[in-house]
Amino acid sequence: MVYSMYNSSNEIEDGVLLGRTSTPPRIPIYVKQADFLRHCLIVGTTGSGKTSLAMKLANELKRYGASVVLDWYGEYSRVGDYIVDVGVGEPVAIPIEDPLDAVFLLEEVLDLSSPQAYLLAKLLKKPKDLERVIDLIETYEPEARWEVETKASLMRKVSLLLKYGKVFKVVQPSEVDRLVEFSKGRLTVFNLSNLKTLELRRLVALGVLNAVKYLKERGVFKDSVFVVVEEAHNVMAKSKFLQKYLAEVRKLGIGLIVVTQSPAGLDYEIMNNTNIKVVKALKSADDISAISKSMNLDAKVASLINKLGYNEAVVEAPSLIEPILIELT
Ligand SMILES: Nc1ncnc2c1ncn2[C@@H]1O[C@H](COP(=O)(O)OP(=O)(O)OP(=O)(O)O)[C@@H](O)[C@H]1O
Ligand SMILES: [Mg+2]
Repeated sequence: MVYSMYNSSNEIEDGVLLGRTSTPPRIPIYVKQADFLRHCLIVGTTGSGKTSLAMKLANELKRYGASVVLDWYGEYSRVGDYIVDVGVGEPVAIPIEDPLDAVFLLEEVLDLSSPQAYLLAKLLKKPKDLERVIDLIETYEPEARWEVETKASLMRKVSLLLKYGKVFKVVQPSEVDRLVEFSKGRLTVFNLSNLKTLELRRLVALGVLNAVKYLKERGVFKDSVFVVVEEAHNVMAKSKFLQKYLAEVRKLGIGLIVVTQSPAGLDYEIMNNTNIKVVKALKSADDISAISKSMNLDAKVASLINKLGYNEAVVEAPSLIEPILIELT
């Protein structure tokens, strides 16, 4: 295939070596730290090597600041400098400033309907109320007929978060610097694999993302932070949290590495807001077509996607003139 050279050759060695062009002269492909701060998307079918690549990137990027991994299946302990086994021992701290933030978080995590969110907003008077939200719902006397049904459905959803014991606690955001254990040069892994429901994993994932944002907004942590979001299709739910987050944090020095096996299910805003794209092997025609369209791949390059090996990827990055096939290192 045709491969291209860098847009500009200066500074290219200041970055992460992703791999080399797959045909001679096997030009090394570096991606700059600044480009990772405008987010990276890794897609590929199951078993195509996404996690292995994200692990390498998190490990290399930590030299520019700190890396944080939302480790859905407990796969990153080998590379982690500090592991938080969420759900084991101490409850994980979720920073919430305003009761409405708690409502927003649960709306996202539990995919609440508007009446459910409305009722929840009525019940949560302070952030800490989230910890006893089941009691609050249970003891609530419905004031209107619609609230009877809403109360029951809300109860069913919220119990998904609380039936496995005290997994999380609500803290003031100002306490957060003691709770998100990252520091310069360190790769911190939040192991979510002990959490028994998808909703709990999602809650903690969003809690950590909020905490990272809070620390950067307040200038508590000065260096860049790179966050690997594994299983992004699960983190996203139906609303727009991740989309908004991607757009908001780029000016804060937070770079996300969004990993998913289902590009066809991704919101186009996620595609638009990730300026590095790494495509590993994909099998489904829908997935291939979605990613090819978003990257504007020509038919020849697109036709390679279902044949890529573990060590291969089609990569788009600002420093490259066009998407190219590379052999990963
Ligand atoms: N470059 C490679 N060469 C050989 N084997 C590899 C390579 N990269 C990954 N593997 C192996 O392939 C398997 C799947 O890799 P990995 O877990 O990174 O894939 P994945 O895309 O994250 O899969 P999933 O969708 O299941 O999360 C692992 O056992 C890993 O060791
Ligand atoms: Mg994986």
